[in-house]
Amino acid sequence: MVSTFPNPSTVDLSRLRLSIRSLQPQLVEWRRRLHQQPELGFQEKLTAEFVSQKLQAWGIAHETGIAQTGIVATIKGNKSGAEKVLAIRADMDALPIQELNEVPYKSQNDGLMHACGHDGHTAIALGTAYYLQEHRQDFAGTVKFIFQPAEESPGGAKPMIEAGVLKNPNVDAIIGLHLWNNLPLGTVGVRAGALMAAVECFDCKILGKGGHGAMPHQTVDSIIVAAQVVNALQTIVARNVNPLDSAVVTVGELHAGTKRNVIADTAWISGTVRFFSPELVGFFKQRIENIVAGVCQSHGASYDLNYWSLYPPVINDAGMAELVRSVAEEVVETPVGVVPECQTMGGEDMSFFLQEVPGCYFFLGAANPEKKLDYPHHHPRFDFDETALAMGVEIFVRCVEKFCG
Ligand code: NI
Repeated sequence: MVSTFPNPSTVDLSRLRLSIRSLQPQLVEWRRRLHQQPELGFQEKLTAEFVSQKLQAWGIAHETGIAQTGIVATIKGNKSGAEKVLAIRADMDALPIQELNEVPYKSQNDGLMHACGHDGHTAIALGTAYYLQEHRQDFAGTVKFIFQPAEESPGGAKPMIEAGVLKNPNVDAIIGLHLWNNLPLGTVGVRAGALMAAVECFDCKILGKGGHGAMPHQTVDSIIVAAQVVNALQTIVARNVNPLDSAVVTVGELHAGTKRNVIADTAWISGTVRFFSPELVGFFKQRIENIVAGVCQSHGASYDLNYWSLYPPVINDAGMAELVRSVAEEVVETPVGVVPECQTMGGEDMSFFLQEVPGCYFFLGAANPEKKLDYPHHHPRFDFDETALAMGVEIFVRCVEKFCG
């Protein structure tokens, strides 16, 4: 396993690192408390209350109830320098998953679970806020903490931006992290440009003409039409997208029929589309509509297609990615270190913030196979190595000191 922190005897542990490491018990306590009370998007009532109580106790100015359950907190540094404003974003929502872990901090809400690590993100942001409030003499400018609801969908970033969280004071840049079980503890995944994919979705209803299973000539079989649509959709990535661009078209649902000897008059197809290149915005919508229309027309069926964009791609600013990379290299100090090979076709609504201001979203390795803490995100046994919590705080704090001066 990769060492969690550098060996104290061989590495000079700065005052900053020691001080942050001493927060580890609190970080674990907060994370576990949040883990026990998971709440779905826009319902993060107790979570927001918990965050607000902590900020209140530490004397940190903040506003609650933004985009329903979001919170924005502001800390101004006492050092003189350029008055830059850096935002740190953390998401707070959980998932509709029944937890299967048998741990003392297991979810107490039936059917709900922090299965993506957002409990950890909230704890890391709280730890960073606490540290910076205590060390205001060490940085100039302002740090704005954005505790965001509903990342898992329908998305809390956009309504928070619309509520003005990037204004007054105006945010110059934004950073955020995702604890990541696709990377081992002790590594950080960061890269300039596209990190995560755009997420687009579609629902399609195919209307044929039902009838007797023995008399197909009197019908328009919606199952035959749907099957051809599903196959034809796979040609979009295979034959229409530049092979040097990554993209995915997945049909995740296909429903039709009620009985083996009845030809179904209606079929339903639902799917998701992923891609990195902003140039492909609008392309899949058009191409999918063309395919559905063409296949349906050739069979005498009709259709009803609903296509929408959920999140744009997560695109990191080169300068901000370099800032995070340089800081992460100081924090991680392991042979595995900082890796740029971390792109994923997963999506994130951090993308909306990154469309507004330059920034960097990065992955903080949190898997530890030796402790069996390596289940994938959204799995009912998902959990991560909490050693990553203090590392996350240290990266954020060092980013603040480097960016704000
Ligand atoms: Ni997540």
